Amino acid sequence: MSERTQVGIVGAGPAGLVLGHLLHLQGIHSVILEHRDREYIEKRVRAGVLEQGTADLLLEMGVGERLEREGLVHHGVELRFDGVGHRIPFDELTGGKGITIYGQQEVVKDLIAARLETGRELLFEVEDVRPEDVDSDSPRLRFRRDGDEHELQCDFVAGCDGFHGVCRDCVPDGILTYRERVYPFGWLGILAEVEPSSDELIYCHHARGFALHSMRSPELTRLYLQCEPDEPLEDWPDERIWRELHARFESPGWSLKEGPIIEKGVTPLRSFVAEPMQHGRLFLAGDAVHIVPATGAKGLNLAVADVRVLAEGLSRWFSNRDDSVLKAYSGRCLGRVWHAQYFAWWMTQMLHRMPDDEDGFQAHLQRAQLNHVVSSRAAATALAENYVGVG
Ligand code: PHB
Repeated sequence: MSERTQVGIVGAGPAGLVLGHLLHLQGIHSVILEHRDREYIEKRVRAGVLEQGTADLLLEMGVGERLEREGLVHHGVELRFDGVGHRIPFDELTGGKGITIYGQQEVVKDLIAARLETGRELLFEVEDVRPEDVDSDSPRLRFRRDGDEHELQCDFVAGCDGFHGVCRDCVPDGILTYRERVYPFGWLGILAEVEPSSDELIYCHHARGFALHSMRSPELTRLYLQCEPDEPLEDWPDERIWRELHARFESPGWSLKEGPIIEKGVTPLRSFVAEPMQHGRLFLAGDAVHIVPATGAKGLNLAVADVRVLAEGLSRWFSNRDDSVLKAYSGRCLGRVWHAQYFAWWMTQMLHRMPDDEDGFQAHLQRAQLNHVVSSRAAATALAENYVGVG
């Protein structure tokens, strides 16, 4: 096990693994430390929408072979309200762009396989990670593994350890500014063994609450229902989930296919940004510094975009001590992050049932907004451009 590395990466989610691979391609040494075991992170069901730029990067990095084979390329989504579907044709509105549906855990599996093939270190089940002296020229990561204490000397530390990670918290008080909105609802998500009921995603606005039809493969459907943020799963036996999904998606001539539910979970919706995304030689990326509500399908894409900038910055620094991109890291990423926050908030407030809307004011605004998006080419183009990803 290395005792020193150029970049110590905390977290083997998409951000940490993409960073590790980009650094590898530049000949830069890194060690990735992951708290969970391999099986857990390969099975954890998360989002599944890759922007064109994300899919292109994975292909360029040489880890997109299965993605290219199994990923489902979509050129539009449906917005459904009042029982009527309206297609937003991404390709037509964005000059041919689209999205790829490919589960985050599949991306993670491919990246882990690629990492192991490089022979570079990826340590699972690492405990009690402590970043130290990150504001000096020689930061360290201390941690425990198999009961033994270890110390890893680093030139830089990348905190890719998610919202509940330890890296953000090692920045001294008063340096980071936090901005947050917690939405008064969550999503109950299921994975069902049944072919998707539509070729494309359906974002459905309904008086009973928002619902989303998505998929993972020609045999697996992913569905979500707006629920309370702390909704107890025990209250949702399979029959109730299907009944509610049928009620929200109801549309003449269309029916939702049912199949065995193989995964169930509740996710709260929140917006969160901590800035700056850097302190000394600690660079934070992905969910460790920003969370977007899932309605815009941006979380994974933002994480990948962060580490793309970070890898470029580190590569310049290691090749000729040019720190210009590292210095600009936080500012460059935050522009994209706030744009995605805006889009995700916009989708969220347009599509969800708002609590405490006694006189229906919000509901009427939402209807006006939805009608605008599906009847104005300019408004539909704004949605399409944001959805497929800017820049
Ligand atoms: C998903 O397929 O999991 C998914 C799709 C679109 C979203 C969120 C999640 O906006």
